[in-house]
Amino acid sequence: MKLLSDVLLFLVCTGLWAVHAQVSSSGRTVVLGGQTYFVPPSPVAQFKFGAGIAVKAQLEGLAQGGSVELIPFSLIATASKHFSTGQLQETVSLYQSLDDVWSPSFLQGIYLSFNGSGSPTATLSTGEGTKIVVLSNSYAFGVPLTKALPPGPYFVEPLTGNIFEAWLLYSDENQSFLYGTVADGKGGFTQLSAHIDGAATESVAVPSRLYFEATPKQPLAGARLAVKDIFDVAGLRTGCGNRAFYTFNPPKNTTAPAIQRLLDGGAILVGKVKASQFANGETATDDWVDYHAPYNPRGEGYQDGSSSSTGSGTAVAAYPWLDYAVGSDTGGSMRGPAGANGVFGNRPSHGAVVLDDVMPLSPELDTAGIFARDAKTWQKAGLWWYENFTSFSKFPKTILFPVDSFGSSFLTNPPKNGTANAMFNTFIQKLEAFLNTTRTEINLTNLWTETSPLIANVSNPPPPLRTMLNTTYADLISLDQIALVADPFIDGFKAAHSGQNPFIDPAPLVRWDYGRSLNDPNRKAEALNNKTVFMNWFQDTVIGALEGPNIGIDSIRTSVE
Ligand SMILES: *[C@@H]1O[C@H](CO)[C@@H](O)[C@H](O)[C@H]1NC(C)=O
Ligand SMILES: *[C@@H]1O[C@H](CO)[C@@H](O)[C@H](O)[C@H]1NC(C)=O
Ligand SMILES: *[C@@H]1O[C@H](CO)[C@@H](O)[C@H](O)[C@H]1NC(C)=O
Ligand SMILES: *[C@@H]1O[C@H](CO)[C@@H](O)[C@H](O)[C@H]1NC(C)=O
Ligand SMILES: *[C@@H]1O[C@H](CO)[C@@H](O)[C@H](O)[C@H]1NC(C)=O
Ligand SMILES: *[C@@H]1O[C@H](CO)[C@@H](O)[C@H](O)[C@H]1NC(C)=O
Ligand SMILES: *[C@@H]1O[C@H](CO)[C@@H](O)[C@H](O)[C@H]1NC(C)=O
Ligand SMILES: *[C@@H]1O[C@H](CO)[C@@H](O)[C@H](O)[C@H]1NC(C)=O
Ligand SMILES: *[C@@H]1O[C@H](CO)[C@@H](O)[C@H](O)[C@H]1NC(C)=O
Ligand SMILES: *[C@@H]1O[C@H](CO)[C@@H](O)[C@H](O)[C@H]1NC(C)=O
Repeated sequence: MKLLSDVLLFLVCTGLWAVHAQVSSSGRTVVLGGQTYFVPPSPVAQFKFGAGIAVKAQLEGLAQGGSVELIPFSLIATASKHFSTGQLQETVSLYQSLDDVWSPSFLQGIYLSFNGSGSPTATLSTGEGTKIVVLSNSYAFGVPLTKALPPGPYFVEPLTGNIFEAWLLYSDENQSFLYGTVADGKGGFTQLSAHIDGAATESVAVPSRLYFEATPKQPLAGARLAVKDIFDVAGLRTGCGNRAFYTFNPPKNTTAPAIQRLLDGGAILVGKVKASQFANGETATDDWVDYHAPYNPRGEGYQDGSSSSTGSGTAVAAYPWLDYAVGSDTGGSMRGPAGANGVFGNRPSHGAVVLDDVMPLSPELDTAGIFARDAKTWQKAGLWWYENFTSFSKFPKTILFPVDSFGSSFLTNPPKNGTANAMFNTFIQKLEAFLNTTRTEINLTNLWTETSPLIANVSNPPPPLRTMLNTTYADLISLDQIALVADPFIDGFKAAHSGQNPFIDPAPLVRWDYGRSLNDPNRKAEALNNKTVFMNWFQDTVIGALEGPNIGIDSIRTSVE
């Protein structure tokens, strides 16, 4: 019997099948020196062989008849006419200290990009194993590039002279990422196709740090950024931590302005990170039904990473190769993970960053924050990102210490005297010593009773804060999210799935059920009014008193006493 595999048959289709599909590449994954690299599909430049036949022949020789697909090399810029072995050693040490992507494996070839004046007079005396040495520009045997490239590690395709960037792949060991991303060359992004062989988790690709130099216009040049999966990015789906939501909604065609601003500042989006579902609070691990909760790398690695910007916080805590992760904060979604994972993260003033194309929890309360591992790195992003960001040159002198807030929620519980309180107190003592000041205690309950705008007269005191604010947060986030996210999604999903409901995790379900149970058309307006009354009072009486020219902190103390 003749085996079918012996016959190679090309069918020429004449209308039977319309075969117009073309093979396209989503990049290559290569292993070099034990590390896995992603090679993007499009070259960044090409050798102009016309001027350097000798190099073309050299590269063709190295290609070994096409069996060697890519040759790694280092691009080194120099103004020195005699680039010595000593200078090479210095450059190697510099690259090794600055960059995790470059490695000595990229010394198989060296491309010296001469940026000085005059002509270089000597080639590099190379060590063993270095195969291509090319001097560019005016050097007699130089081969120019079609486009000037920054220094760093590259791959050249010997037969075409095409040059590609080198992106190092990392494993997402803490399961913080949904997927890695790469620019699609059309202003948007695609999911990274590359994966480290044998790795159990997603892979994330990062470009060489040597390709970038921060400038005033791009202070974040080359900074590696991950984004919470409630922010839209063109070309990618926004999943909000829900599998049905992820599949049901098509990829986005716009990038949220908040993210675009960071990209404009030079940040490189390397992936989308996990959010707890619809940015509601979820506790690891049982609340996390659709996706496994990211691991908090602190301690033994199994503590709750806090939510809802969970993956943003755990990724920055776990991965030195990542510089920033964007998250959001409505009721603690940045502050919680920052504390739990031991990184810097913030809730800014409401409105400091535009939140168009970001899934809302409650637009009246939603804000966007950013995580970094140190304050200086964080400040760089803050300065670029936030409107009216103020960088202070002096330390503050006032520590406002609400006695009925710390250690417990002053709305629901009396203050506790526990271990956390003692640690907190020690911290405040150190802060007092550092700032040469002492804390100013205020009792918010008391202050409210005495200064509330809701006081009718002496015999008619204002409602207690804990009554006025008891359900404000719960009302706003549930009613807003039901109207803006839950109902449109569930209705659309059911219409497309013969009436079947999408699966929703328990935490958002409980909150949406609560909102639906209110069943009161005035509730939202009432909650918003209570929030506004409190906000204005706090701004004028607590914060404002600190800044006012005549009303010092003493007046608060006096009114408390
Ligand atoms: C030439 O390259 C070196 C090494 O990157 C750099 O320090 C120097 O500033 C460059 N000179 C010019 C004129 O670009
Ligand atoms: C989390 O990440 C750290 C750093 O990469 C790693 O040491 C640790 O094993 C990871 N934890 C888990 C549970 O994978
Ligand atoms: C972008 O997506 C929105 C929502 O899916 C759609 O209404 C709009 O037509 C799209 N715009 C373009 C230019 O594709
Ligand atoms: C920034 O400051 C300007 C001028 O004081 C003000 O109008 C604007 O509302 C501020 N923006 C935010 C987000 O606070
Ligand atoms: C807790 O209570 C004990 C006993 O009343 C007291 O000595 C201690 O100072 C308190 N600690 C704090 C942090 O308030
Ligand atoms: C506190 O006072 C000490 C001694 O006078 C001084 O050295 C230090 O700079 C002060 N610290 C601050 C934050 O002002
Ligand atoms: C704050 O003031 C209220 C009302 O006067 C009082 O009941 C409460 O004990 C005070 N809290 C603290 C911690 O001093
Ligand atoms: C205090 O205000 C309440 C409600 O406005 C009013 O009924 C009451 O008569 C007022 N009492 C005094 C002493 O003015
Ligand atoms: C807060 O609301 C809950 C639920 O509606 C209620 O049981 C509780 O008594 C309220 N607490 C206050 C202080 O109003
Ligand atoms: C608003 O505050 C009042 C007290 O001023 C309280 O009785 C009411 O329950 C609050 N309503 C909401 C929706 O928070």
